[in-house]
Parts: sequence; structure tokens; C-alpha cells
Amino acid sequence: MCGIVGFTGNKQAADVLLDGLSKLEYRGYDSAGMAVLDENGTTSVVKAAGKLDHLKQKTDNGRLLPGTCGIGHTRWATHGAPNEKNAHPHLSGALDDDPSEYRASDVIGVHNGIIENQEELREKLLRHGYQFYSDTDTEVAIKLVDYYLKKYRIGPIDAINRMMVRVRGSYALALMFREHPGEIYAARKDSPMIIGISEGESYLASDVPAILQYTRNVYYIENYQAARILPGKVQFFDLNGDEISLEQVTITWDAKAAEKGGWEHFMMKEIHEQPQALRDTLHHYLMDGQLDFSQAGLTDEILQGADSVCIAACGSAWHVGMTAQYVIEDLAQVPVRVELASEFRYRKLLLSPKTLVVVISQSGETADSLEALRIAKERGLKTLSVVNVQGSSIAREADHVLYTLAGPEIAVATTKAFSAQLMVMYALAVQMAYVRGRIDREQYEGYMKELSAIPDKVASCLETKAHIQRIAARFSGARDAFFIGRGSDYAISLEGSLKLKEISYVHSEAYAAGELKHGTISLVEEKTLIIGLLTQRNVMNKTLSNMAECKARGAFLLGITQGENSEAQSQTDDLISLPVSDEHFSGLLSVIPLQLLGYYSSVSRGLDVDKPRNLAKSVTVE
Ligand code: M6R
Repeated sequence: MCGIVGFTGNKQAADVLLDGLSKLEYRGYDSAGMAVLDENGTTSVVKAAGKLDHLKQKTDNGRLLPGTCGIGHTRWATHGAPNEKNAHPHLSGALDDDPSEYRASDVIGVHNGIIENQEELREKLLRHGYQFYSDTDTEVAIKLVDYYLKKYRIGPIDAINRMMVRVRGSYALALMFREHPGEIYAARKDSPMIIGISEGESYLASDVPAILQYTRNVYYIENYQAARILPGKVQFFDLNGDEISLEQVTITWDAKAAEKGGWEHFMMKEIHEQPQALRDTLHHYLMDGQLDFSQAGLTDEILQGADSVCIAACGSAWHVGMTAQYVIEDLAQVPVRVELASEFRYRKLLLSPKTLVVVISQSGETADSLEALRIAKERGLKTLSVVNVQGSSIAREADHVLYTLAGPEIAVATTKAFSAQLMVMYALAVQMAYVRGRIDREQYEGYMKELSAIPDKVASCLETKAHIQRIAARFSGARDAFFIGRGSDYAISLEGSLKLKEISYVHSEAYAAGELKHGTISLVEEKTLIIGLLTQRNVMNKTLSNMAECKARGAFLLGITQGENSEAQSQTDDLISLPVSDEHFSGLLSVIPLQLLGYYSSVSRGLDVDKPRNLAKSVTVE
């Protein structure tokens, strides 16, 4: 949701802002804007509806905004239509075509999040003579800071603190004050924000990729903290206005990993990075050929002591949980329930005090997942997070964190982070099974061998590319598609269906194969595409029968199986055979052709693969 960037130092701010915004465009892309404050307190603001390119054109690639201190924003609309008026930055004064008007604004800011009591605050400010030019909650927050600044004749930090006490909701705010040229002020509650420092320069961003090429030394600002950012220096303050010190963290990601590096789309690059992401993730937890989660403080005693596991996550991360439940229950024989984090937070789940709550999230900032984690902690439950972004809120707040080593994922549709999450969950299942005495040493070593072989098998799965591309071209006009499977094949069907619909806009659904005939089969007609996952031998014939029921109604059947399989071959119209693996772990292989199908279907329709309409990479509002 929305990306914010800030810079103060000795370079032209607009160059850094445009570069950072291009790295954050995956967070939102319906409009963008920048404000640059020069040393005389003169602010230039430019906003543009649509993608970042429009802002680039409008500012002549930033040249029309001279100055070395500025803030920028790429928006995913929450309040107000995605037009220029509602685009950020917002001002304490009026919005006018005449840039001299901006000089009348004492406070200028960008915001990521939602101010829930904005109506009430808007009324209050209207009573005090403020006028509003936009429909946004952000304009309200900025005018509120301006109000406190003037009412109490206080400085920026005190005014921001008063605003934080008064507003409800979530925010990462970056503000500039006319009276404080060269400085950026920041505040945060429940929306991500990092501050990076290098020699004589300071950066602020919603996410690491925006500033990775400039610095790896960052601070994670916490809820209800504020920052004063000067060139090469930053001060932090608590809600009382007292200065506090925060620990500097070094980011280990390679800056090149956040670049497209010759690939046409980030998604295809990230699909191809999966073998490496899986290798890196598994090796991170291997010590002398054995799994070791002690670096996360996740001891054998904790894994032995849990009487159940509850997984909470959203979107694809929830699909990881759905897939992992079959493996954890089968290998470790621990009951598992998988909850959508958005439901978890409002349900009174009956969980035993010995439940291990696992929250899975690529970004580590998904609002619903974060809240589910907090609720679990409030209830005194042991929490474990599986997270990709180092230092993110979910990683920091969980009792234990198992990082996935997928590196920065830029495409909105997740691929390598999904796979790395699944690898961690499979490893967790094997370890739980072993320490709880459900599998013996020989079985443990067998499973470890299987897991270690997965990255190379994933690389082989990528060779199905040309085959999948042909199928995508053949069905480029399709209206609907159905993904079916049983057991963990059903869970992977959910992910395949999401991959297709989120980037190609083809209506698709995933069904447990046996459930199709209880209603949904009425949608099947001549040439409807049915994708059947057939990697679980014990239920393969059942799924094939369900596919046959669709064939009888004119459907086209695409099967996905492991190894040569004459039965599947004869009963489908087209079959993709993947390398053979232990069936517990087949999801890591069968998801690959499904990711490719989503990708090529999007490309064949001429769509924006990496930035599908209406979506944002990191969903920091509920
Ligand atoms: O960052 P998270 O893993 O918490 O994100 C969860 C979902 O928003 C995410 O998986 C989403 O469903 C993706 N668009 C899937 O490709």
C-alpha cells in the first residue's frame, strides 16, 4: 500500500525520489507526486495521476524540482479517487496551480496508511478555519500537525506527537516544514518505515529496495516514535518528545537483486530465482546435514511442547499454510488449523494454551497478519513468524522468526517468496516429526535428502516453459479456468488459481476435486480449461474421475503429474510431467508450471505482469 521516499543530503533530491519511487511502484501505482524544499524554504510540488512515468514526464525527469531535500509518494487509493488532486504530497495550505501558493504551506507531507477518525478531525479543523482541497485522510493529518504547530507555538516533533495522540488508525508519515529547510520529519504507527544513513546523506522509505543502492545502514522506527532527519544524521523521539536511541541494522540484501537485470519482467526473473532462493533458505537452517532452528531460538522443546499448530496468513502466504497443514499433520501428527489472518483477528478461536501460532508473510507488514500475531501474543500463545523482509514488523514482534532467504521480491504476484516459505514449512514439519519421535533417524535423513534435491528439480520444472507458453496462447481468450486437486494438490490449486487471476484477470477458481460436482460444475462448458493436479498417488484416480466428469461436459483437461504416468496421459488432453519427488514436497514442483501459466496468460493478453490493476504488493491496511 502506498510507497513513500525521502531524501536530504547533497544530491538533487528529485533524482533520488524518482529512483526510489520506481522501486516502490509495486506498493501502489494509481498516482504519484514529489515535493522538494530548497534552502530558502521554497517548496515545489508536482503530482500526476497514473503511473510514475507521468510524474517523470511532468517534472522533466525531476529537473523542474531543484533542491536537495524532498519527499515523494506513489499511491494506492484508500480515501478519494485516484486523481491528481488526491495524489500526495499534501499541504497545510491550499492546492493551487500557481506554485507560489505552496510557499504559504508550512507543512507538506506524504502518508501511507489510513486515518480512521478523519471525518471527526476534518470537522474540527473546518471549525478552526481550515479548508480542504482533497478527499484524503492525509490532508487531514497534515493540517492537524499545522494546527498544533500554530496553536501551541511548538516545534515539529511536539506538533507531530500531539497529532499522534489525536489520530486513530495507521500511518507512516514523512513531513517537511517550511521553517526547517534541509530536514524531514517522520512518524509511524502500524505502517512500515525505514530510515537509512550514509556519509552526509539520509534516506527514508517504506521498504528496503528503494534505498538499497545508496545505503545498507538502516533504522526501523517503531510505533509512536518520531524522527528528525538531517543530512547524514537522524534523531529519534518518543511520544513525550524525549530523545531516544535506536539500534542501527545492516541489510544483507544485494542491491542488484532489486533490479530487473535484463529480464522483461520481475516476475519471470523471480520465477527463475527459485532454485537459488530454495537452496539459500534450506542451507540457512542446515548444520552438519541436520536442521537447526536454534538461531531463531526455536528449540526442540518448543516443537515438542506444542499440542497444536495454528497458521494465520493472507493470500499466497495462506496457501503456504494450507499446503503445509497436510505435511505437518502427516509427518509430525500434530493437529493444524489454517486461518485467514483477516478472519483470525475477529474470531474468538478456541485455541489451547499450548498452540504454536505461525504467521507467514513475505513483507512482514501485512496488516491483518500483524494483528493476528498481536492477538496471539496477547492471549499468551507462543508465536513463530516466517518472513522474508528482514526487520519487518511481523519479524520483530514474533517470539521467534524463521527468515526465508528469497531476497527482495518486486513483482506483485509472489513466486520465490511463496516457494521459500513452503520450504521453511516443510523443514519445520520434518523437524517437528523428528523431535516428537514420529519419524526415525533413517526417515529423517531420507526426507532431508528429498528436500535438498528440490532446488535442482525446481530448475527442471522451469523447462516446461515453452509447453506452458503454448497452452497460455491457446487459451488466451478463455473466460474461466478451474484448478482442482485433492489433499495438498488442492492447496496448490488455490495458489495456481490466484496466480492466474491476479495477473491475467481470467476468472478462475480452485476446488477440492470432489467438491466440484456440488455446484460449480454447472459453470463448465465447451472448452472450459480444467487444470488437475495429480501428484498425490492415493487420490490421483479420484481426481482423474472428477476431471472426466468435466470432460463429459466439453472441458479441456490439463493434468500436472510427477514422472511418466500412462493413466494420466490417456485421460487428459495435455499433460505436464514433473520430476519425481517425495509426495509430501511435490507442491514446490507443481506450483512452477502454475506460476508460468499465470505469467504467460498475462503476457499473451498484453497486461502489466508486475503491476496488475487494483493490487499492491504489501497490504498494510485491513
Ligand atoms: O506480504 P505477505 O506475504 O503477507 O502478503 C500476503 C498477500 O498479500 C500476498 O501473498 C498476495 O496474495 C499476493 N498478491 C499473491 O501473489
